[in-house]
Amino acid sequence: MRSVHPALKTLSLLAPLTLGLTLGAARAGGGAAPPATPTPAAPTTNPAAAVQPARPAASNVSLRALADARGLLLGAAVNQTLFDPDEPEYARTLNRHFNAVVAENAMKWAGLHNNREAFAFGFADAIVNTAVKNGQTVRGHTLVWHDSLPPWVYTIQTREELLRAMQDHVTGVVTHFRDRVRIWDVVNEAVSDAPGHPLRPSPFLNLIGPDFIDEAFRAAHAADPGAKLYYNDYNTDGLNGKSDAVYELVRGMLARGVPIHGVGFQAHLNTDFDVKGAQVQANLQRFRDLGLDVQLTEVDVQLRPARPELGELARQAAVYRDLLRACLNVRCAGFVTWGVTDFNSWRAGGKPLIFDDVYDPKPAFAALAQELAR
Ligand code: G3I
Repeated sequence: MRSVHPALKTLSLLAPLTLGLTLGAARAGGGAAPPATPTPAAPTTNPAAAVQPARPAASNVSLRALADARGLLLGAAVNQTLFDPDEPEYARTLNRHFNAVVAENAMKWAGLHNNREAFAFGFADAIVNTAVKNGQTVRGHTLVWHDSLPPWVYTIQTREELLRAMQDHVTGVVTHFRDRVRIWDVVNEAVSDAPGHPLRPSPFLNLIGPDFIDEAFRAAHAADPGAKLYYNDYNTDGLNGKSDAVYELVRGMLARGVPIHGVGFQAHLNTDFDVKGAQVQANLQRFRDLGLDVQLTEVDVQLRPARPELGELARQAAVYRDLLRACLNVRCAGFVTWGVTDFNSWRAGGKPLIFDDVYDPKPAFAALAQELAR
């Protein structure tokens, strides 16, 4: 049994832990807006973790068991570390604490369909099959996005050709995973951050027009009529101009009879984010009131580097707790963290996740456990 990190002892918000929670040494982990632009990939080998001998599970609490008991999908985005023989703790942590999995990059257009003539499903299949074997639900991410497109998409010159290519892509991917993936982010980040939040310029908007969104959903629905189809975006977590724009977008889709079933709110946040002040729960509720499912799909909460780490860890835990509470209060369908450990995060410098570089649970882990057990 490992000792409790001093950070935890000082956190009043964690004082009433009644779960028999044994936390290991927690280490540390800001910016509301995730730029949709690619960031440098994190190194794939974690030297800190690689030198660790096989270790017991990080905690005697399983978030997965708590989430199962509440009927909540609790997920994590995964990358190639899942198959790294030098880092078995990654898979162990994933399987112990999460009942859902998202491929961080493997199911994007460029990941599956870089060659126009043929899909390459190998890596994504490996992730999906591993998840299915471990009894985990897979969220499919993402079918149509302006980012991570292969070069050939940009060579297309006409609406007809791009519409057909998009429909073929959506149909091919959804059909391939039909028996194993029943939740899809069909369109990702189509609303821009520009004043008034119009649709974002992209090959799809520019060549096909705004109806590319409806057409993508229709193609996904035709390929798997039982799948739950989501629109997914960032900086839409609270009540604000951008979430208003997404609300109007999906309301219009519903009015047109487009098969949309849910909205994903990414929640790439930092420790300054005030979940209550931003009215996250009220925002989620208005989408629920449209009859849609909601999920928090890419949660991470960056620490502000200039501040003392202990205080930041407490603030990070509070943001995670408040987000999950808002989610549970509206009977959300899922809560997904964008990665497993800080080391593997797309913004590792901000230490934004609930496990530290060596898989020890952080105060944010305890906050989620406590909230799930409430
Ligand atoms: O696969 C190549 C590899 O072969 C090459 O050696 C390496 C060199 O940098 O790049 C690798 O690809 C990178 C990939 O991540 C895998 O690490 C891409 O350059 C990089 O752009 C890509 O970044 C991803 C980004 O989406 C763009 O697809 C991030 O990992 C991923 O966390 C991020 O996730 C997005 C969500 O999909 C949508 N919401 C925002 C979120 C954060 O931007």
